[in-house]
Formats: sequence, C-alpha cells, structure tokens
Amino acid sequence: MIDKKEELNRICKAVIERIKPKDTERENVKAITNSITTNINTKALELGITANAISVGSTARNTWVSGEADIDIFIMFPVDMSEEDLKEKGLTLAKSVSERYEERYASHPYIHAYFYAAGTEHEMDIVPCFAVKEAALLKSAVDRTPFHTEYVVQHISGLEDEVLLLKQFMKCLGIYGSEQRRKGFSGYLCELLILKYGSFVELLTNASRWQYGVRIDLNDHGKYRGVEPLIVIDPVDPKRNVAAAVSLYSFCKLIDTAREFLAQPDRKFFMPREGKPMSDAEIRELVKARGTEFVTVMFDAPDVVEDLLFPQLRKAEASILNLIERNEFRVYRSDVTVEGGKAILVFEFLVWQLPKLKQHMGPPVTSEAHAAKFKIKHSPPYLIENGKYAVEVERKYTDVVSLLEHELNSCSLGKDVSESVETGYEVLKTEEIRGGLGYFFSTYFGVPV
Ligand code: CTP
Ligand code: MG
Repeated sequence: MIDKKEELNRICKAVIERIKPKDTERENVKAITNSITTNINTKALELGITANAISVGSTARNTWVSGEADIDIFIMFPVDMSEEDLKEKGLTLAKSVSERYEERYASHPYIHAYFYAAGTEHEMDIVPCFAVKEAALLKSAVDRTPFHTEYVVQHISGLEDEVLLLKQFMKCLGIYGSEQRRKGFSGYLCELLILKYGSFVELLTNASRWQYGVRIDLNDHGKYRGVEPLIVIDPVDPKRNVAAAVSLYSFCKLIDTAREFLAQPDRKFFMPREGKPMSDAEIRELVKARGTEFVTVMFDAPDVVEDLLFPQLRKAEASILNLIERNEFRVYRSDVTVEGGKAILVFEFLVWQLPKLKQHMGPPVTSEAHAAKFKIKHSPPYLIENGKYAVEVERKYTDVVSLLEHELNSCSLGKDVSESVETGYEVLKTEEIRGGLGYFFSTYFGVPV
C-alpha cells in the first residue's frame, strides 16, 4: 500500500506543475501590468490629476492559476475627492490607456479592458478607489483591496503553490468566487485560509472537522458579531467577515469534498468538470422516473449586473414558494438561474395538482361570538375539526400552473424582476421545457460526468 501522505504529495506536485504559471506567462503578465500602471500614472500627470495606479489582486500576489490571469489594477485617489469626481476621473484615466473596453458597474464603476501581448489576450479590471488611511475607514466598497494586497504580499511568500491548489480545488467544485450567483470562496479568502493552516492538505484536514460558525482570526482582533457558517476576520479590518458571502451549501460542499479527497486522494478533484448538458429528452425521462413535476417561471433577465440580479431572483423564489405553499401545493426543491438572456425560476413539485375540495378553517367552537359570525358568513354543513369549525369550499386553483399564471404579481419580486415580469412571463411544465436548461439540470440532478 502506498503511503497516504506520499500519495497526497505526489498528486499535489503534479497538479501544481500543471496549474502554476510558467515563467513566460509570469513575465507577460508583469510586463502588461507595469506598462498599464505606468501609462495611467503618466496620463494623470499630464492631465494634472492626483492619482496613483497600483497592481492588486492575485496577479500582484503571485497567486493566479495559469491561463486565468484577470489582472487587477486600482487607481487610488485622495480621500477628500467627491465620489462624482472619483468616478469621472477614474474612468477617464482607465479609458485613456485601453483600446478595447467595457464600462461595468457593480456597486462601483470600473473598466474591464482587453489587451493583446505576445499572442495572447489579457483581461484587466481597472478600478478607481479612495486612498484611505486604513482599511476600516473605507469610503467605497473596494477601498480595502490595496490593504489586502499589502497584507498577502507580506505574508504569503513560500505558500503560493498551496493557494493555487486550493483555488483549483474550489473551482472544480463550483464554489470558487464570492459573486452572488455562486456564493463561494473568494481568492482573498483562499489566501487567508492557507495562511491560517499553512498548507492545502492541512486546511482540508481541518475543514473536514469544521462546525457551523467556525471562527478564524489571524490577528486576534475580531469585532465581528454576525452569524454565518464560516467567519474569517479580515486581518486589515476587524469589523469584516471575509467569508460573509460563503453560503451554507459552499461551506458544506468544502467539508464533504475535503473528507472524500483525504480518504481517496485523486487528481480528478483538480480536473475542471465541465458537465455535459442534458438533452430535453433525457430531462423528461429522468423526471418521469422520479414521478415529480417541474414548473419553470421564465422572463427576460433584467439588464442589471448579476450581483444585483441574483439576490432579487432568490427573493422572488422565496416569495413564490410562500404563495405555492399557502395554496397547499408541495415543492420538493427549487433553484434560480440565468441562461441566454432569460431569468428562470425552477420548482420541482411533489404535489402540483389538488382536488376541487378545500377545507376552510373557522374559529374555535368555544368562541361563541366568532362562531355566530362564521355561521352567518358560511353555509352548512359545519364540520368540527380539532375543536374548530370548518366548512368545505371550492378551491380556486387546482393546478399550480394556473395559480402561477394568475397570482404571480401578488408576490414581492424585487424592483427589476417585477418590472420584467410585468412585460410578460411564461409558466412551463416539464414536457414544455425546451433547450437552454441542459447544464442547469445536469448540475441540479448531480449527474456524474
Ligand atoms: N475582493 C474582496 N472581496 C470580494 C472580492 C474581491 O475583498 N468579495 C478584493 C480582494 O482584495 C481581491 C481583489 O478584490 O484580491 C480582486 O478581486 P478578484 O479579482 O475577484 O480576486 P483575486 O484575489 O484577484 O483572485 P483571482 O482573480 O485569481 O480569482
Ligand atoms: Mg483577480
């Protein structure tokens, strides 16, 4: 039997060999980064703008996975500048050095630019921020980032390969990235976890024993009191949980896969699992075998960034679930997705049809006044169930499709979703689902690939 430790070392070494940027990639990334920061700073001087462009993120920390370098450049402006000015001057400088770019907005405006060098295209985010004195005094959401870079650069030396292993492992599990669509582990969080535990394997060993609310505080200075599955105090801001975006699912997925990997180490854990899309026929066959019914609510995806859209879709999902349950249908599982310009809420039902008969409950028999009113309002026969009156009435919606077609607007859907739904939406059952959801369903059903 091969020694487990040796086996783990062998696998990790082979994976690092594959995902670690080679010297040429490293040099290219550094060259572009340097040239863009220099260009921005020169331009700022020319225009008489006080600004300082710096390299941040994984490309500044040597912790990017080969071939996936998204270069992050921040332009730091004086704290006393107005937000209006920061936006205008930041975008002007960013655009002046970029040939091809898109203007993007999260909670904050920035430029996403494309550069060609040495035969490859590089993507870059150029983000204006305030040069605050310390991270906790942030004026905008991104002002902590330069402090993160400084902290990681100071501490990560020698552990970069361990960060790469962890990022690749998370990417293959689909839990890398703190965006609202994914709710997983950000790059900075991966770096902090490695700093805490010293290595990828040591992190997994600990993660396999994590309990809810596990608290990691590298500087022992945390003032954070929230309740999330994982709490990692930001070393540069004691009030912030770096893992605030990690969902219960992502937290549990890491724990579960850590156990599986340590029990049976395998390179396949580091191979991207693209997933094969299920065909419409395969979806229908599988649903038939399950005996459930799917109903999707589909409408044009509102034109807002995903980080704003996904929380609204989840809110809509919760509100619709509530409507469905109040009407006595039963949902087994549900999810939301955005595919090909459409936002889709997916519900899988245990009960999607109900009989005409519905029982309407009245007051306790012992409440004489209420009983009298109830009898005026409803005709006999009066049943007595568990000490209360009840009458039998006709159900308004015996099919969940009809309920959703008529009552969706009574749900609280969020501003942009609501506006889109008002322009029209489709409610489809399993046999009417066409194309587009193949990837969604292969993930939903956990089809092995
Ligand atoms: N950041 C953050 N919180 C987030 C997302 C980003 O604090 N939820 C900050 C971090 O300092 C991060 C930087 O913004 O390093 C750049 O973000 P991003 O490019 O998403 O992450 P990287 O760390 O660069 O990792 P990679 O690009 O390799 O995925
Ligand atoms: Mg990055």
